[in-house]
Amino acid sequence: MGRVRFPQGFRWGAATAAYQIEGAWAEDGKGESIWDRFCHRSGRIAGGDSGDVACDSYHRFPEDVALLREMNCTSYRFSISWPRIQPTGHGPTLAAGLDYYRRLVDALLEAGIEPFPTLYHWDLPQALQDRGGWPERDTAGRFADYADVVVRALGDRVKDWILLNEPSIFTTMGYWVGIHAPGIADPDAFLRATHVVNLAQAAGFAAVRAARSDARIGSAMAFSPCEPAGDDEADAAAAERFHRFTNAWYLEPALHGRYPEAFVDGVPFDRMGVRPDDLEALRAPFDFIGVNLYMRACIRHVPDDALGVQARPAGIGGSDGPRTDFGWEIWPRALSDMVLRLTRDYDRPVLEITENGCSYGDGPGTDGRIRDARRIDFHRGQLEQLAGAIEAGADVRSYHAWTLLDNFEWSEGFRQRFGLAHVTFPAADRTLKDSGHWYGEVAAANGFDT
Ligand code: FCB
Repeated sequence: MGRVRFPQGFRWGAATAAYQIEGAWAEDGKGESIWDRFCHRSGRIAGGDSGDVACDSYHRFPEDVALLREMNCTSYRFSISWPRIQPTGHGPTLAAGLDYYRRLVDALLEAGIEPFPTLYHWDLPQALQDRGGWPERDTAGRFADYADVVVRALGDRVKDWILLNEPSIFTTMGYWVGIHAPGIADPDAFLRATHVVNLAQAAGFAAVRAARSDARIGSAMAFSPCEPAGDDEADAAAAERFHRFTNAWYLEPALHGRYPEAFVDGVPFDRMGVRPDDLEALRAPFDFIGVNLYMRACIRHVPDDALGVQARPAGIGGSDGPRTDFGWEIWPRALSDMVLRLTRDYDRPVLEITENGCSYGDGPGTDGRIRDARRIDFHRGQLEQLAGAIEAGADVRSYHAWTLLDNFEWSEGFRQRFGLAHVTFPAADRTLKDSGHWYGEVAAANGFDT
């Protein structure tokens, strides 16, 4: 028997996002978000579901805090809904929205849990989308203004700020593939969105820093270590291009003021709408990098893609590991591979694991207990790899399981359950799963026996 240990002061937490849990979509003056609109009108969400009520955390957040406390968590990553603060994405702020987050933060602090808010987890005010959304340059400035308002209101209580959640995913799914809000499938709109999001990230960084010089600031990126799907050299080169495109596209601009060479014919500056002085304006010297990681990517060279990266994942992860109920390959080494690559490439940055988890459909047995042993195995495997990466030199400060509660999983609606706590829909009653009880023991012991 061995022991998997974490450094002293390591933070244990869980993550959620506003649209996925809050509900109360039109309460207390909140504006419409692109996700409200997309769920209500697109017909593209499994089961016709929406986040209208979700886990009702807007009303039931004290129960969420109680669950975190029961799991001995010392950190809670949640997100702030922009249209709850500025209903149309600019101008006057809503006192009720800020009050809600103040009450949540105060409840966390009272329970000894550090608040770790994300400013943007995908719920853009619809009014900004009506003016062009992320492909429109003006949105970057709007984001910085919103960040300023929130940090001035909560910065006395909150130290750690995440600017954006998974910029590569919300731009790809929302503007290129079109299966997430706002449902646009246009490669040029996508390319412009990637640049505006990078401008927003830097402008948001500057705004938070100006509002609170003592803030710790980063973004949470969707990372997947990229491996060649086949043996030939074309796949190996494609895997490296895809790494730059999916893992580094929002990091290189922030840390080095440049775009990585992900495209076969060079960075498409014109299509992206890049102006002469823009590159320097992209810098955001992060205090930490947030790591969201679910899988590895196995990449094939494809000569015919609309963008010019000429690389595409051959499947959902690779084809060697077992799969979750969502069909995602389980490959624990992906976490250590990625963390160690970031450690090498960016000179040992501070890393926070901001999401990592799995979807399994286990529900209550006749005795009410939720026996989700597969989720325990999943986290065990990931944490073993993470501890190994830390031992090998990575500076990782926290782990946030995705997610605290079963919740609204975007285009999958409620049919994918990632929670450490089970939730009934639409009643929104919560029960800790076996995995939640196990996680609480790990957090208390700062490790576990193998
Ligand atoms: C990530 C998202 C998060 C959640 C998980 C399963 O891409 O950041 O909101 O949906 O996937």
